[in-house]
Order: sequence, then C-alpha cells, then structure tokens
Amino acid sequence: MVTESDLPCSLYIHIPFCDKRCAYCDFNTYAGLAHLIDPFVEALCSDIRLVGKRIHNPKVDTIFFGGGTPTLLSGDHFKQIFSAIRQCFQIMPGAEISLEANPGTIAPGYFEALREVGFNRVSFGVQSADTRMLKFLDRIHSFEQVIGSVEQAKGAGFNNFNLDLIFGIPGQSMNMWQESLKACADLQPSHLSAYALGIETGTPLQQWYQKGLIEKVDDDLAADQFDYARQFLGALGYDHYEISNWCKPGSECRHNLRYWRNGNYLAFGPGAHGRFNGLRYSNVLSIPAYIKAVKAETVAEIPIPCGPSVRDWHKNTLAEDLDDRMMCGLRLLNEGVIAAELASEFGIDLWQNYAKAIKKMGSLGLIEVSQIGIRLSSKGVLLGNQVFSEFIGD
Ligand SMILES: C[S@@+](CC[C@H](N)C(=O)[O-])C[C@H]1O[C@@H](n2cnc3c(N)ncnc32)[C@H](O)[C@@H]1O
Ligand code: SF4
Repeated sequence: MVTESDLPCSLYIHIPFCDKRCAYCDFNTYAGLAHLIDPFVEALCSDIRLVGKRIHNPKVDTIFFGGGTPTLLSGDHFKQIFSAIRQCFQIMPGAEISLEANPGTIAPGYFEALREVGFNRVSFGVQSADTRMLKFLDRIHSFEQVIGSVEQAKGAGFNNFNLDLIFGIPGQSMNMWQESLKACADLQPSHLSAYALGIETGTPLQQWYQKGLIEKVDDDLAADQFDYARQFLGALGYDHYEISNWCKPGSECRHNLRYWRNGNYLAFGPGAHGRFNGLRYSNVLSIPAYIKAVKAETVAEIPIPCGPSVRDWHKNTLAEDLDDRMMCGLRLLNEGVIAAELASEFGIDLWQNYAKAIKKMGSLGLIEVSQIGIRLSSKGVLLGNQVFSEFIGD
C-alpha cells in the first residue's frame, strides 16, 4: 500500500483510438482498431480498480480523459469506467471532470449521457474554422460540425468548455487566423488553447516538409498570429494565464494546473504518463500489450500506485526537477516562479541561484521582477523560449 499525503490527486485516462490519424499528430493513438474498444474498456476498469486498491488515500479532484478520441467511447463505456473509479477512488465534490471531444464523432444525446456519468467540462479539438486548413490538417470535421457539437454540448448544460486552435499552419494567412479566432470566440467558450503547429518526428507532415512538398512557415507570421490572439482574446476578457491557454476568470483548466504545479497524477491507458511522490512513470504503448499486462495483474514493486502496464519509471535528478519547475512556473503568466515556493520545495534561493539570468532577462525587459518572484513580461511572452533557455540546463 502506497502512503500519500491527504492532498487529492488527479487521474489522466488515455483513450488511444481515432477514426483517422491527422497528418501532424504524434500522440499515442491508433486508427482502425475500433474492435479493441470493448476489451480495452474492460482492461481499463480492472487497471483502475487495481491501482485504487494500492493507494492509501484515494481522493481525486480532477479527472481528464484525453486521446486519441475519447468521444469514440459510448455513454455505456463511460458508465463502466466511472463505476470502477467510484468503487476505488473518492471523487471530491466539485471535482473537474473533462474529456477531449472530436467534432464529427458526436451522436445526438451523447452529451446528455456524459453529464449523467459526471462530466462537467469538454475540450473540443477545433484547430481551425477555415475549410482549407482543416483539409490540410487531415481533420474529419467541418467548422459547421464544430458549431453543431458545441450547441449540443451547451444544450446538455456544458457551459465550461475549451476550444483548441492551431496557428502557424502552412498556407494560413493572418486573415484566416483572425477569422478562426473570431468564429471560436463567437461560440463563447470559457477556455481557449492556441498551439503553434509542431512538426513532429515520424508524422506525414514532417515527410511533406522533408520532400519539399510544403513550404516552411514564416516564423514572423506565426509570432504575429500569436500576438494577435493575445490582443484579441484579452480585449474580450480572456485571461492569458498560461503561454498557450486563455480563460474567462475562474475557468482555468485545473487538471493542467496540477501538471504545471508539479502535483500528483495517476496514469491509465497505453502510453499514459503519471507522476507520484516525485517519481515519474509511463505505461506500455500498444493497446494489445496494455490489455495483456492488465489481465496478468502483475504489479511492479515500486513505490508508486501504478498499474500492471507500467513500462518504465524513474526519479528525476534534482537538476531535472528544478528545470521543470522553472519552465512550468515561467509558463504560468500570472504567478510565475515564486521565491518562497522554490525555497520550500527545493531549498533553493531564486535570487542567488538565478542571479545572472534574472539580471540579464530583467534588463532586456523580458521578465518582471517583484519582491515575491519573477514572471514573463508582456514582451517576454513573445520570446518565451529565449527566456526559458536562460533558466534551464545549467
Ligand atoms: C492530442 S489532441 C487530442 C484531441 C482530439 N483528438 C482532437 O484532435 O480533436 C489535443 C490537442 O493537441 C493539439 N496538437 C496535437 N498535435 C499537435 C501539433 N503537432 N502541433 C500543435 N498542436 C497539436 C491539437 O490542438 C489537439 O486538439
Ligand atoms: S489530433 Fe486528435 S484526432 Fe487527430 S490523430 Fe491526433 S489524437 Fe487523433
């Protein structure tokens, strides 16, 4: 039995199925394996029960179903999963319970079923409102379907919802980006995420680049698109609380805040990553291997309440943990890195340890320095990577 403090933890549950792989995506997810959904859900429930029994005080205040495409599971699948969670974990009153939803996969009545099992937040993968960009990204949906799905969710009582958008797409003009932001803001989400398109290893998108089939995105245009999002969303009352995330006051994603603040989260499903009491772990990647491992019920003898599918775990060095802490802290635009917290978590004096970086970044106007700590300045937000590199990797 693993003993833990009284603090509640988070659950991340990975649903590794998609109808089709998008050209840019390198997440651990598989198309064409829908016949494995039933056995996967069965294994997932066993995994949840096995882990729940290994933890001393299983209080949970955020649960996040990510993917892949969680909305490929039916209301009945979620009923089974929540029954396993409730059997072995105590879900705190007011817990945030979210899932990622792909427009184009939502049947009538689906969101009502989700509310019934306990979901109270939805994150829609919109990416763009422009038909050409959706086609380029290999998305299965149109923006009309986004509008329909959002209306359906609102009708079922989901007022707390996020829209994911991507900028810096080859061929995406400033005007297209502005139109996408406006079309999304018109849907009145409580939260918006905007990511720069990443060219990930092994994706079709990377191959297109390598073969010269598409032109590289102009970095200045991508920076201008990000800057436009800041101004546009700021004027609408959205708080830019993390580099890629905006919310209406009080609607931060509490699950992601747990990651960024180095809290405890347990991982379920193939390829899911967890962190507990300073140890990090991840599960096997393949769906059949996950199902097989959970069936075998052999749990590794390590001081983490992980399930039978864990494939590796490690403790970061102090330097790695500190780098993570500085990166995550600086990404949080309101709080930044607080000196007293760094001292209590690491026994490290922010002002002494980072004196050179603070002086340099402060004099360039890229960070704000106060009595309690440091955070990115408005100018620094646009040059985040330059600032991070000064605070990590020494
Ligand atoms: C892993 S996806 C899962 C959500 C859901 N399957 C979907 O695509 O609608 C979560 C989000 O990550 C973002 N994302 C995934 N790959 C990305 C990439 N290469 N560059 C930028 N953003 C990416 C997308 O905005 C996406 O909505
Ligand atoms: S972006 Fe979303 S829908 Fe597309 S392959 Fe990745 S997880 Fe699946």
